[in-house]
Amino acid sequence: MVRSDHHLALRRWAKQLGGIFCLRMVHQHMVVVVDAAAANEVLGADEGLNKGLEPDLSDRLMSFTGHRTLFSADTGSPHWHLVRKGVAPAFSPTNIRRAMPRIHAILDTVIGGLARVRGADVDINNVALRYAMDVTGAVCFGAVFGTSAAFDDARTNDLFAVLRGAMGELHKRATNPARTLLLHLPEVRAGRRLFRRFRSHMHALLQEVKARGEPTADDGSVAALLLRLRDPATGAPLPDELLAAEFGVFFTAGIESAGNAITWTLHLVSQRPEVEAALVAELGKAGLLASKENPSPPRIGLDDLARLPYLGCVCKEAMRYKPVASTGTTRLNRRTLTLGGHMIPAGALLLVPFDAVHRCNFERPDEFWPERWLDPTAGYCAAASAQHQTGSPEASPLSSPGGGAPKRFLPFSTGPRQCMGRSLAVVMHDVAVATLLARFSFCLADRMGGAAGVEAAELQKIFRNFEEAAGWKRVVPFGR
Ligand code: HEM
Repeated sequence: MVRSDHHLALRRWAKQLGGIFCLRMVHQHMVVVVDAAAANEVLGADEGLNKGLEPDLSDRLMSFTGHRTLFSADTGSPHWHLVRKGVAPAFSPTNIRRAMPRIHAILDTVIGGLARVRGADVDINNVALRYAMDVTGAVCFGAVFGTSAAFDDARTNDLFAVLRGAMGELHKRATNPARTLLLHLPEVRAGRRLFRRFRSHMHALLQEVKARGEPTADDGSVAALLLRLRDPATGAPLPDELLAAEFGVFFTAGIESAGNAITWTLHLVSQRPEVEAALVAELGKAGLLASKENPSPPRIGLDDLARLPYLGCVCKEAMRYKPVASTGTTRLNRRTLTLGGHMIPAGALLLVPFDAVHRCNFERPDEFWPERWLDPTAGYCAAASAQHQTGSPEASPLSSPGGGAPKRFLPFSTGPRQCMGRSLAVVMHDVAVATLLARFSFCLADRMGGAAGVEAAELQKIFRNFEEAAGWKRVVPFGR
């Protein structure tokens, strides 16, 4: 588990050992739950299990006082409930629709930047992360970071670099519990300084938001909603230390996750010319493709996503095949539990590794096969298909077509602790992928060593990444 490719080891063990197995680590036992039905039981438990990591390392990065944040607080605890419920409207369809012009403006900057360097090698992971940071700034904090354009801006670049460094340090601490004791190592001391710098950036962002004055009634950003929260016991607003810590939660949750997901999707499409051709044909049919005759096609909005079913299939399949939260999530078992015929004692630590879940519960699991998603029940275990065929009601794409069958597609987890920003993440991801592929075609730069080179360099750094995030040759087709 201390290896940076432990997500792949978990997949290998799951294929050898089956849907539920136990790992004995130096300091604890961990029950690994890969079987989809059992994973749903663990994650969807009615009373909501706690995350189970003690101490939660994210607190070292985000919390000023050691107080738990939304991310680390116990499920159902007053603080978790207050923040989760209070901030949920930020991710409502209305609010995301309202954010679209800002997302489009950020994408215009990205397109302009890529067009300027056409034909050259581009670090597309860096581009995607900067885009995700700007969208997070706009939607969550009403802030203009300008990171996509300002490659030379010291303030945004410092925040960007601090975030990346701090997430790297968090990962090292998570995989080596003894690391915090190694203070004689300069890099460990540097890691502590990164955490402090991150917190001071979040504090500065809070002050910037507060300086704008009372949020207007129609301001549905995460920041405005956090500022409106009141302590149920006293009726007082949350103190600055807590607010800045929660700013940190929403800042860190979406950038590396969405940025890396976009990178993997573009990579997977670049490896499958027939998938790219089908996508391009769909975009063309919808009048959204750049061409000699139409060099500036319309921007891709929320309503367009519904007209691009194959794009939806490709994006889902990329998140199944390379889920960025690949190690998954942990829960602490509260009471004796029977899972798949195994008795799990109270107090056991449970791990649901999403990469392994996706590679053990689907047909043709190791194949990148977007067409599987043409079946709306593909995200559910087999029972769902039968129920679907008997005519159970079908609703919007975000509602469950599975008729209550266990979910096997879990890039955003499930249950009370599932990703809060899923709706934003899907839009951020799918709109960016469609917009970029409508204008550019990407292929691997020589320095990446081909698809095998990328696979070999793959590693888990909180989110799935690769060793050297550099060098994608980009070509510009469609006569531009
Ligand atoms: C592709 C992008 C993303 C992926 C794959 C992803 C995935 C996840 C996963 C797997 C979890 C853990 C769930 C669990 O423990 O059961 C999580 C939690 C969370 N995510 Fe995301 N996420 C993404 C983007 C975002 C964005 C854009 C935001 C908001 C700006 C966000 C906000 C959160 C929050 C606040 C939590 C903690 C919820 C809680 O503990 O109650 N995520 N996400």
